Amino acid sequence: MGVYAVTGSASGMGRAVVDRLTAAGHTVIGVDLAGAEVAADLSTHEGRRHAVQEVLSRAAGKLDGAVLAAGMGPVPGAERLPLLGSVNYLGVVELLDGWRAALSAAGNAKVVVFGSNSTTTTPAVPRRTVKALLSGDVDKAVRSVRLFGKHAAPMMYAGSKIAVSRWVRRHATTKDWAGAGIRLNVLAPGAIMTPLLEKQLSTPSEAKLIRRFPVPVGGFGDAGQLADWVVFMLSDAADFLCGSVVFVDGGSDAYFRPDSWPNPVPISRLVPYAWRFLRYRGNR
Ligand code: NAI
Repeated sequence: MGVYAVTGSASGMGRAVVDRLTAAGHTVIGVDLAGAEVAADLSTHEGRRHAVQEVLSRAAGKLDGAVLAAGMGPVPGAERLPLLGSVNYLGVVELLDGWRAALSAAGNAKVVVFGSNSTTTTPAVPRRTVKALLSGDVDKAVRSVRLFGKHAAPMMYAGSKIAVSRWVRRHATTKDWAGAGIRLNVLAPGAIMTPLLEKQLSTPSEAKLIRRFPVPVGGFGDAGQLADWVVFMLSDAADFLCGSVVFVDGGSDAYFRPDSWPNPVPISRLVPYAWRFLRYRGNR
């Protein structure tokens, strides 16, 4: 049986993951604001440091997997903008950086990060928002969305989820992660019925947009089903899954962007390989 860290363990999809892992006999170290083994506010540097240290000490330095589900939704409010960056982005990458050695110690660890289909279905998310977050500068990211006024929160939310998904894809294939036996992947849900979505639906302007949003299969997703996907992505079935973003969103991403992906690799990415190939031919 394994030891798993789960952030956002007190509610919604994180909670449903905890229920499944504990029912299967695993040990879960939950992290949340309250109602978890480790109480930590991931919007603050101290809270993130505490979560890292406390999980490492409870796990005795070895983690079989981690699920990063703590997150805030795009509910409007200028005061929420920095929290969206610090919880949804730093609350994932700083924890994973801190837990990496413990994940590596397990030899075959799996990590599932919660992204969102807002990454590919929100138009006009500024590149500089994503760039600022990837450089760890939440204040700069907040400044970059202020011009959107009451639409700043969805921009910051989508920006935080794009940044965290890119962080996963950039790191998943490196020797520190893939090379250390850690499988790092993203689950990108659409609208799933959890307290987070209920909060959005209780804001009339938000509710109108959400209910009008095209979902080809109709309705909202179920937290338990998403947790089943997470458990699958933590299992041996994911040994060959690396840097993938798995969309479970009722078809919205495919509806908006049927031809955007898959796309051929840009030639520039292949230049180092072409050079190696030419050298190999020259040496024969
Ligand atoms: P939820 O609101 O039910 O659960 C989120 C958990 O994160 C809560 O227990 C909350 O206390 C915790 N959290 C929030 N701020 C925190 C902080 N500062 N420190 C520590 N913990 C904190 O939400 P849900 O829906 O289960 O969301 C899980 C993940 O899925 C989130 O990352 C969310 O962005 C993402 N997501 C959710 C979608 C939905 O429609 N429900 C759609 C796409 C992505």
